[in-house]
Amino acid sequence: MTQLLIRGLTQLATPAGTHAPLRGRDLGTVEVIEDAYVLCGADGRVVAVGAMAELGVLDDDVEELDARGLCAVPGLVDCHTHPAFGGDRVDEFSLRAGGASYEELHAAGGGILSTVRATRAAGADGLRTAVGLHAEWMLRHGTTTWEGKSGYGLDKATELASLDAVQAAGGSPTWLGAHAVPPEYADADAYLDFVLADVLPEAAAVADAADVFLERGAFDAAQSRRYLCACKDAGLSLRLHGDQFTESGAIPLAVELGARSVDHLEATGADGIAALAASDVTGVLLPASALFLGRPMPPGRALVDAGAVVALATDFNPGSAFTTSLPLVASLAATQLRLAPAEALAAMTVNAAHVLGRAGDTGRLAPGFRADVVLLDAPDWRYLAYHLAGDVVAAVVRGGRVAYRR
Ligand code: NIG
Ligand code: FE
Repeated sequence: MTQLLIRGLTQLATPAGTHAPLRGRDLGTVEVIEDAYVLCGADGRVVAVGAMAELGVLDDDVEELDARGLCAVPGLVDCHTHPAFGGDRVDEFSLRAGGASYEELHAAGGGILSTVRATRAAGADGLRTAVGLHAEWMLRHGTTTWEGKSGYGLDKATELASLDAVQAAGGSPTWLGAHAVPPEYADADAYLDFVLADVLPEAAAVADAADVFLERGAFDAAQSRRYLCACKDAGLSLRLHGDQFTESGAIPLAVELGARSVDHLEATGADGIAALAASDVTGVLLPASALFLGRPMPPGRALVDAGAVVALATDFNPGSAFTTSLPLVASLAATQLRLAPAEALAAMTVNAAHVLGRAGDTGRLAPGFRADVVLLDAPDWRYLAYHLAGDVVAAVVRGGRVAYRR
């Protein structure tokens, strides 16, 4: 492998500083270099970034990428996706457009449970194919690092096949063993008896983290504590889906257990904001999900102003957020959550990498970081958020190689 020089960039933008996570004022501090270059090493790491005027003499065997008219930002990090599913929910989407509610469809055995049926039917090969396709969709939107959850199998074989498919496609696997109670169990406790005894030992060997849907109609705080404590004992990091529809104790539990994140937060009020801000738990905001379901947006501005660590993600899944576009999420962050483009960029690079335990490896354009670069077809890097639903990603470099070109 040779070095790759990305030269002539109109701008290069990267979250400033070297520490992670970023909160408060630091979240919005982006370093911008005009007329810039990125030199990627043969080892797939960034060797140097800077202004073209300061580019020194290079070795002979350097491949060059002419980036005139383009801007560079770090490869985007999607820290919350559900890519391991079969089928789709386009019928449900149409019903919701006519007025049916997401929670009612779930209670009637549709929603998540309809995807469970399709995912079980897909089989291990079908899941590998589906996750591979979804990973390709993510790449085309500039995502170079991503987390993928299981949670649509809810039986041993399909949960393990989901984690395997995420790993095979290059994602960071999260075991969402407590997503819903499948119909073959009388109640949540009986289902947890099964998954903790029969699935956790093998899931923990593949997954990096565990996740639970703490919500009315899914798992309550006591059941979530039981699941998460067992997962923590098995060595997994902890994540929670919390405060999506109701405040049911997700934030206090996340803080108590030292979870990496609590995700959604559309229903979070003042006390939850204060509790999160006083903790090291990241609030992962999923505005595409709120948009897709016509729900209130999470209190992004208030969380940042209170000093909470926030990240942004797509929540890609067939039911509540059928999008793999982090640039769209950046637009929603700016227009709906009132985050500046600079804050949105840090929330989907450095802070999202922090949620995955990868902040020392990716999320910044600086020497030593993995050479993951998104080239934007734009005169200013802030078009990432500004060009609503624009086709802004011209090319993606991953590990120092061109992985996608429009
Ligand atoms: O994050 N809220 C729970 N889980 C997913 C949606 C799952 C689905 O509707 O299929 C979410 O929104
Ligand atoms: Fe989710």
